[in-house]
Amino acid sequence: MDEASSRNTTAAASSSSTTSAASLLSAPNIDELPPTYLPDGVNFPLILAPMVRCSTLPLRTLSLSHSFHLPFSEEIIDKSLLACTLSYNSFLNTYDFSKTRQLKKGKIQSICILRLLPSQPLILQIGTSSPQLSLLSVQPLLPHILGIDVNMGCPKPFSLKGGMGAALLKTPELARGIIMELVKSGKPVSAKVRLLDGENEDVIYNNTLTFINNLVKVGLSLITIHLRTINDSSHESCKKRYWMISKFVDDLNIPVIINGDVWSKQDVQEIKEKGCKGVMVARGGLSGMVKFGETGKGKDELIGDYLRLCLQFDNHFINTKYVVLEMINFRRLTDEGKEILDDTDKSKFTVKQVCGVKDYEGLCGLFGVEYVKEKEEEEEKGVERKYDDKYFLKDEEKKDEKVAKKQKIDA
Ligand SMILES: Cc1cc2nc3c(=O)[nH]c(=O)nc-3n(C[C@H](O)[C@H](O)[C@H](O)COP(=O)(O)O)c2cc1C
Repeated sequence: MDEASSRNTTAAASSSSTTSAASLLSAPNIDELPPTYLPDGVNFPLILAPMVRCSTLPLRTLSLSHSFHLPFSEEIIDKSLLACTLSYNSFLNTYDFSKTRQLKKGKIQSICILRLLPSQPLILQIGTSSPQLSLLSVQPLLPHILGIDVNMGCPKPFSLKGGMGAALLKTPELARGIIMELVKSGKPVSAKVRLLDGENEDVIYNNTLTFINNLVKVGLSLITIHLRTINDSSHESCKKRYWMISKFVDDLNIPVIINGDVWSKQDVQEIKEKGCKGVMVARGGLSGMVKFGETGKGKDELIGDYLRLCLQFDNHFINTKYVVLEMINFRRLTDEGKEILDDTDKSKFTVKQVCGVKDYEGLCGLFGVEYVKEKEEEEEKGVERKYDDKYFLKDEEKKDEKVAKKQKIDA
């Protein structure tokens, strides 16, 4: 067997699906949290947020070497997990959760939905609207994760139509049912919520508190609160809601993690002083991870490290390029985020340059990373999920148009 095919061969499935009846029945003791939930010795974790397409093994690993303590997986839908089988990848020393799809000409392709390192802390985030499916779907992964998080904040039509994500904020009984069922897994169960709607800020606070307390009653171990409602734009700062942090901490008897507009160590400190148990960072971790680390590395060095990890973990090129584009592109940030990251944290490459690159060789060449070409082999790589480069180019093209217009006027 050659190297490329042995890389993609998975050994016998692990014994992970043999969860005992006893552990199914015993809920975690919330008084012991967060220590059982968190890696040893960490009492105020900096958490890498769940980010679809981005929070895969390479970025999670990178975050752990840049002062982050605990990564969440990207959201994975319960039904997708149920279509997967777990196996040990002896070439990469990872556990791979993969499903198959049939290609044209009858060829079967195996797609890895979740790749994880046995030694690495991980919270699995799932998207679900079914208590039964949620518990079934996580069973094989239980020995490999610290906890299970339920996405109760995603505002995307796909989630809402399926009754998942932020739709659960409007179906509190179903949300409760999901937590109640997942608690039977024996793992700590958390939820990541947005704020509920309300006619003023006090009502928003109270509605959210009631919703969370309803989940606490059935065994929720930890809550992450994204300080936005479903109607708030992610381009507008949510820091006006920081007054809610200490109130949530006082009013809830489980650890509270805060999420939203954390761009710097100062932001982390400010939130810590309000008494919560940790802080979760999404866009600040993607576009500004260097701001949190102690390594003194610049953006392009960090991307170089990311590329090395993508090669090490055999990440799909299209996914790798997508994440690199997210890292150098500031289109998702608030004005404050842009300002904070703008001064020190820029890649010397443009979006156009990265979009122009079509393979690992080109991308590694751009960022000065050594690349040894291997025989092409697509099976068992991380999930590909196609996107269009135009998606990233729009902002840069708009900028170019503005500059051209200004030049015309000046002339
Ligand atoms: C690229 C991207 C993907 C995301 N995917 C998820 C996801 O899978 N699950 C989830 O709960 N939130 C997801 N979010 C929302 C973030 O986790 C976070 O709640 C939001 O971006 C606010 O945090 P921030 O201000 O630190 O970015 C995503 C955000 C981004 C930017």
